[in-house]
Amino acid sequence: MSLDSTTKTEFPIPAGVFAQTVTEVKHYTDRLFKFRITRPASFRFRSGEFVMIGLPNAEKPVYRAYSIASPSWDEEIEFYSIKVPDGPLTEHLQRIREGDTILMRKKPTGTLVNDALLPGKRLWMFSTGTGIAPFASLIRDPETYEKFDEIILTHTCRENGELDYGKELVAALKSDPLVGEMAQNLRHYCTLTREDYPFKGRITDLMASGKVFDDLDLPLISPETDRGMICGSMAMLQDTKAALEGFGLEEGANNKPATFVVERAFVD
Ligand code: A2P
Repeated sequence: MSLDSTTKTEFPIPAGVFAQTVTEVKHYTDRLFKFRITRPASFRFRSGEFVMIGLPNAEKPVYRAYSIASPSWDEEIEFYSIKVPDGPLTEHLQRIREGDTILMRKKPTGTLVNDALLPGKRLWMFSTGTGIAPFASLIRDPETYEKFDEIILTHTCRENGELDYGKELVAALKSDPLVGEMAQNLRHYCTLTREDYPFKGRITDLMASGKVFDDLDLPLISPETDRGMICGSMAMLQDTKAALEGFGLEEGANNKPATFVVERAFVD
């Protein structure tokens, strides 16, 4: 009998990592899925951080950085993932089922945290594709609403089905007993670049033309009132950073809070 990579599970759990159980898997499109795992009792993180995850399918498992999409108070941990054809981790990860084991390194980190921003009136979260994941955590955290009067989550994708995860999340949030009332201050601005939609185009172009501000009936971004967080591909990070700098915002970090932050953990 031959064993293929999906049935070969007899590898020891490496030292120093958590081995957690998958509790839910949901596929949104042929490229996107979310999954939830049990949370180790000792695991603490700040909403917006990422962690390294892998599968127990090799002597030396492949790990990749994944934003934690659930808030820090949640009793499970959620991730939102792309399926990369022939991707060393995601080609296996996309086939996980309830009851399977996920490896998670113990130390979370990241820059998309409330602590890395100076106080402000309005927080803009700019995301493309799976870059919405850290914001899925932050928009479910009461601290975000305590720190800012208004939250704008922008999500730009190629096609309609890729917006579903975020739309489902925001709809559930508005009726959530813990943050539902606070979340009335959240606005979700979705745009598509490769299919027809009421709002079309890259967020960078919509900022340059001023259309996003007209659509939301908001003033231009200003360092006095506005703060930004950015998560997407390398090109998107660079272009969005340039746009925010054009409005006079400055990049910050955990040890030097400023007016916007960028997460670079997911780009090669
Ligand atoms: P586009 O369709 O015009 O490339 P990807 O899956 O490649 O990461 O893209 C996700 C979304 O991000 C797409 O809608 C894509 O638009 C958009 N995007 C890609 N590059 C940039 C960029 N440099 N600035 C802003 N948005 C971008």
